[in-house]
Amino acid sequence: MGTPTALQWRELWSLYCSDLSREELDQCAWLQQTSVEWPSGDASPVEVCDWLARLYSAQMDETHRKARGQFFTPPAIARFMAGLSAPLPHGAWVVEPGAGTGILLAALAEHLVRQGNCREWRVTAYEIEPALRPALALALGYLRRWLNNHGVAFNYEVRPADFILSNSARLRPAPLLDHMTADASPHLIISNPPYFKIPKSDPRVVDHYFRISSGNTQVSATELRNLPLPPLDKIRRIGERLQEADGISKVALITQVVGEELNLLR
Ligand SMILES: C[S@@+](CC[C@H](N)C(=O)[O-])C[C@H]1O[C@@H](n2cnc3c(N)ncnc32)[C@H](O)[C@@H]1O
Repeated sequence: MGTPTALQWRELWSLYCSDLSREELDQCAWLQQTSVEWPSGDASPVEVCDWLARLYSAQMDETHRKARGQFFTPPAIARFMAGLSAPLPHGAWVVEPGAGTGILLAALAEHLVRQGNCREWRVTAYEIEPALRPALALALGYLRRWLNNHGVAFNYEVRPADFILSNSARLRPAPLLDHMTADASPHLIISNPPYFKIPKSDPRVVDHYFRISSGNTQVSATELRNLPLPPLDKIRRIGERLQEADGISKVALITQVVGEELNLLR
């Protein structure tokens, strides 16, 4: 990376993301307290995102980061992942479910510019962590400027929300996952998800499964009794087959057995 530029944070924000609200900025005290050594103007977007991620990790409490699975993708892996994506069409829509400081999107941008086919695309980036969002906005603002300089139109929206809760109505385990229309589906989802076990009592699990089974999140005994369950012999047969089988992953096995027994596979 070239010589760092001495700038104040507020100058950086007004340069790259002037639409950020005062309340959002105030969530980023950790960044405003850090001395500014902004990477030089010709820094690659991946370098900028990596720099922001390292600043954040150095400033934030490790227990907090662990609880939210905040481990950021190193540049080489981000570029490798982006390189695996198929060419995107003009006007493509990309989703990042837990964007951190945006390094996967930056790597994708660099990849698309190298390919030279996609001259316009947009991103929806979810990030649950308030303390990260101004850094993400800064990274995406920098990315937009960098892409524009390479003749690519780029728009982004940062959603300050829990990706799972926001999308639980859409998420269904395969092979039931086929109700989304092409219009409502992104062309690409790129992600390094937070890895941790979600306890069964977690509201996200409850929400997810009750939406799947009954279409809403209000659970009542009547609804449970009225659930359209398969006949008892089918349920027994599924249980027997799952007990007998071994050798493939549980999720794949359950998907296959339930799909076959209930004629859901095509
Ligand atoms: C493993 S980090 C990866 C960050 C970034 N994608 C990268 O590759 O460096 C996961 C990110 O997801 C965020 N996150 C965790 N749970 C989330 C949720 N339910 N919805 C949205 N973001 C979430 C964390 O705050 C963190 O920034």
